[in-house]
Amino acid sequence: MLNLDVDLGERSYPILIGTGLLGQADILSPFIKGSRVLVVTNSVVAPLYLDTLQASLQHSKDVQVDTLVLPDGEHTKTLATLQLIYDELLSNRHERSTTLIALGGGVTGDITGFAAATYQRGVNFIQVPTTLLAQVDSSVGGKTGVNHPLGKNMIGAFYQPQCVLVDIDVLSTLPVRELQAGLAEVIKYGLLGSYEFLVWLEQHIEALLAGDAELLTQAVKICCEEKARIVAADEREGGMRALLNLGHTFGHAIEAAMGYGTWLHGEAVATGMVMAADLSRRMGWISAADAARARDLVARAGLPVSPPPGMTADQFMSLMSVDKKVQSGKVRFILLRGLGEAAIESEIDPALLRQTLTAGEQLCR
Ligand code: NAD
Ligand code: GLY
Repeated sequence: MLNLDVDLGERSYPILIGTGLLGQADILSPFIKGSRVLVVTNSVVAPLYLDTLQASLQHSKDVQVDTLVLPDGEHTKTLATLQLIYDELLSNRHERSTTLIALGGGVTGDITGFAAATYQRGVNFIQVPTTLLAQVDSSVGGKTGVNHPLGKNMIGAFYQPQCVLVDIDVLSTLPVRELQAGLAEVIKYGLLGSYEFLVWLEQHIEALLAGDAELLTQAVKICCEEKARIVAADEREGGMRALLNLGHTFGHAIEAAMGYGTWLHGEAVATGMVMAADLSRRMGWISAADAARARDLVARAGLPVSPPPGMTADQFMSLMSVDKKVQSGKVRFILLRGLGEAAIESEIDPALLRQTLTAGEQLCR
């Protein structure tokens, strides 16, 4: 088992990565403080992994394990679903010493984390991510929250878990489309911060897509190391953490425009990264060859490389103006200074931006 540390002083926590971990009885005991646990999962993940986790928890420690199965899907990442967690906690008299465990993808992790941040002003929280996207990104770093019809992840809190438990085995049941969506965030780490990792991904993308467990473990480890490093340096996104949003300004606009869940988050981020590469090329930051290389890797991962047909520049502009990176009314973009080097930029020539927004199939060509 690999044990990485997210170094945040007294709020530091481990990311445990390996295979067969869900069934290991004692693994989570050190991170459960009181005698009650609520495992929050969803209707897809529950039949696959809830029994295993529940049995491990019950065998390892004298705790009462309650469970809550939420509906599935990005469209359920709402205040109404959050209310279901509060209802369960209160009706079963969970006290401040309770531990919430999120078993699922990024949607379950983000909602449960926000419930943990706010129930009785904050209770113990553990992340057990079951999608590739959640394992490499959303379970680490403490961003929690829900969507608002007018903007993605607009209501939330920074709240760190006590532990992140990554069992690579669970990826074997993930639909291919979800694995592809996770690979978008994996590619993101290469594009934003590591040329070496990007080259590694170019060598192994098909094997990763085929579910090679050893390569997936390696990829998860590299991404988590990078995320832990960035979060430790800038927990509240005062600066460099914003680089993790490469592709997200365009991507969040696509998700909102299409209706949450129509495009998967990873798919929208994938196209958003191609758009960011395209804008970087138009601004003279990277060469046409490098922009095409970014696009090709995204395409080889089976991900979309152009925005939804029919989505207009005006729609993009309107939706991007509610991005969380907006400062003093100006949208800040994460762009590429090179492959493996991202930077934040708010001074964008509107004409070039409009070219990217209207390029459609011609992006990076
Ligand atoms: P998701 O949680 O909707 O999971 C995708 C689908 O896979 C769902 O249908 C889910 O039920 C199913 N699933 C989960 N694990 C499975 C398994 N092992 N086998 C079979 N099916 C499984 O989506 P996601 O892609 O995991 O996460 C996307 C969300 O994460 C978005 O809401 C995004 O905003 C958020 N996010 C948050 C952060 C953060 O820092 N907090 C970072 C990136 C993304
Ligand atoms: N996924 C972006 C972040 O965690 O900051």
